[in-house]
Amino acid sequence: MRGIILAGGSGSRLHPITMATSKQLLPVYDKPMIFYPIQTLVDAGVEEILLVTGGNSAGEFLRLIGNGEEFGLKHMNYTYQKTEGGIADALALARHFVGRDKVVVVLGDNFVQGSIRKAVQDFEAQPEGAKIFLKEVADPREFGVAVLEGDRVTRIIEKPKDPPTNLAVIGIYMYDNSVFDICDTLEPSARGELEITDVNNAYIQRGTMTYEILDGWWADCGSFEALLRSNLLVARERGVRV
Ligand code: G1P
Repeated sequence: MRGIILAGGSGSRLHPITMATSKQLLPVYDKPMIFYPIQTLVDAGVEEILLVTGGNSAGEFLRLIGNGEEFGLKHMNYTYQKTEGGIADALALARHFVGRDKVVVVLGDNFVQGSIRKAVQDFEAQPEGAKIFLKEVADPREFGVAVLEGDRVTRIIEKPKDPPTNLAVIGIYMYDNSVFDICDTLEPSARGELEITDVNNAYIQRGTMTYEILDGWWADCGSFEALLRSNLLVARERGVRV
């Protein structure tokens, strides 16, 4: 299983604090944000990791992470997303790195409290398709939202104004090798991006999408509120009284 961390994008929802640096380099309590998704992958037993960077501060990731020694890794792989084409566009850059393998994709501003090791193992045993994590949230309008029927996800709606459920799709996704063929078929959405939700809906249509409800908290740092909440979650986890 190969790991990909997507850390491109302009972080425009966090301007002006992302005017001069990448969102994923901002601090979350006592570490740069990008450390958390790397740790999530390493804890899950994924050691071949590709970091997709972009924008003006791409070089800073190399300076910060180097060969991943801090995480016990032997080396770290990097690639550069020239344009801001969205999550699925960044993912398409990983085709050669993944080869015939399966892949776990983590958004560079997402991380979780618990381990995803068991889910990764389950997916390794899944003959084909994809697997996502769902988490109940108070306001799902900022996320991909899942509709369930029995034990199947039947649809994911990206940032619905009127969400049909409270089940957000978190930014950790597992895919078989056909994900790159799916990426080739995508058309840009209204926001001009190739959407990961369209990738997931393609697997749902094929009938090969499985899901798991995530235990523990999930942190997303895409907005000021979410970034503040993530800092508090991590600090409290460390016993800091804030
Ligand atoms: C992305 C996905 C969305 C997902 C979210 C998780 O949103 O498009 O489906 O729920 O990440 O953080 P974005 O942060 O690109 O707006």
